[in-house]
Amino acid sequence: MHFLGILVNIFVESLLVLCEGNRLAMTLFRILVLVVELMYNMVSNIFPKFWYEYRLRRYALLSKKLHSETKLRLAIVTGANRGIGYETAKTLALAGYHVILACRNSDSAASSIESLQKQTKLQTFEFMQLDLSCFKSIRAFILNYKLKYNYLDLLVNNAGVMVYPRTFTKDGLELHFGTNHIGHFMLTNGLINNLLACQYPKIVIVSSVSHYNTSSADFEFLLKKNLHEGFRNCDSLHYKHYDPAKSYSLSKLCNIMFAQELARRYKHTNLLVNSLHPGITNTNLGRLNNQRNGLITRIFKSFFAIFPAQGALTSIKLALSPDGNNGKYFARESETSPLPLSQNEDICLNLWNYSEQIIKDHSCH
Ligand SMILES: NC(=O)c1ccc[n+]([C@@H]2O[C@H](COP(=O)([O-])OP(=O)(O)OC[C@H]3O[C@@H](n4cnc5c(N)ncnc54)[C@H](OP(=O)(O)O)[C@@H]3O)[C@@H](O)[C@H]2O)c1
Repeated sequence: MHFLGILVNIFVESLLVLCEGNRLAMTLFRILVLVVELMYNMVSNIFPKFWYEYRLRRYALLSKKLHSETKLRLAIVTGANRGIGYETAKTLALAGYHVILACRNSDSAASSIESLQKQTKLQTFEFMQLDLSCFKSIRAFILNYKLKYNYLDLLVNNAGVMVYPRTFTKDGLELHFGTNHIGHFMLTNGLINNLLACQYPKIVIVSSVSHYNTSSADFEFLLKKNLHEGFRNCDSLHYKHYDPAKSYSLSKLCNIMFAQELARRYKHTNLLVNSLHPGITNTNLGRLNNQRNGLITRIFKSFFAIFPAQGALTSIKLALSPDGNNGKYFARESETSPLPLSQNEDICLNLWNYSEQIIKDHSCH
């Protein structure tokens, strides 16, 4: 599967080079990328779930061998109570990390910890409350973490929401942008000194293939409209018909840009930051759509979506392998090309400044 994954990535990269810059060609590119990914997933599903669990365990064992030091290694995984985050937390524990599950729902986190402990026979899981759609909660999380620990080896920005109807975060931001990007932006910057206190710190940012569904025009619109008109009247919220899929895709583009800018800012340190697409995975992410479409979605997912364990492979590879990649984008466990827009230094810097401004403007809400 790994070899096939590399072939798919080469195909996507070559196609992107050919199509970039032409609107019509980019539409074709998006369709072909989706078709190729779904075909790849169908082939992946020939292997049973335990094959991917076995591969995760191999990453964990190899990493454990490399780290024989006695110091407790600390990892935070956001949204670790289910889906890809759950599998990521499990593997990190098997690799020897003490894993902090940064989740918004304490009951769900408690039952996830119970089953993680059962499955791994390890006690090394801890819950800390974090709602990424609320500045107050993010600040409280950072404070609580710092009161308890003064370093952090690994941060996995995994949590996410997808295609919700027109909704705002508690601080008045569009839900996808506010949770998926701004929430993680604030969290990461709040913990950066704890990361830099470690010898080999890492940040893994879970983005999505759907970032290809955006364009520089969408992105400019997001920035300009928001800055000039205030967030409530802006961006995709202000399109005639609010487009939740576009809003999700934009937030995932921001994830890659954030990873890029972080890598650039801290390139003189040992910090390694990378982003990734986990694969179209059979999780609860599109729960609203699933409820609407019921049986059709379930059938589609069982053929064309991968197991959560396979979805966690790329995050785990970036978290545990000693490769030294920095500022790169991955899919199917190997490097690939994101939209060139997300690699533009000026644009990434703009997003950074803009994100800081938004947090300032909305902190009094
Ligand atoms: N599944 C896919 O096909 C796919 C494809 C591309 C990218 N991704 C990305 O992969 C990541 C993981 O998604 P998944 O597929 O594992 O979905 P999932 O099963 O729905 O998990 C998402 C996690 O994020 C948490 N979360 C949502 N809003 C939050 C908030 N405000 N504060 C804290 N946590 C919050 C959820 O918590 P609750 O349980 O409380 O809701 C849940 O734990 C996401 O970033 C997603 O964009 C997924």
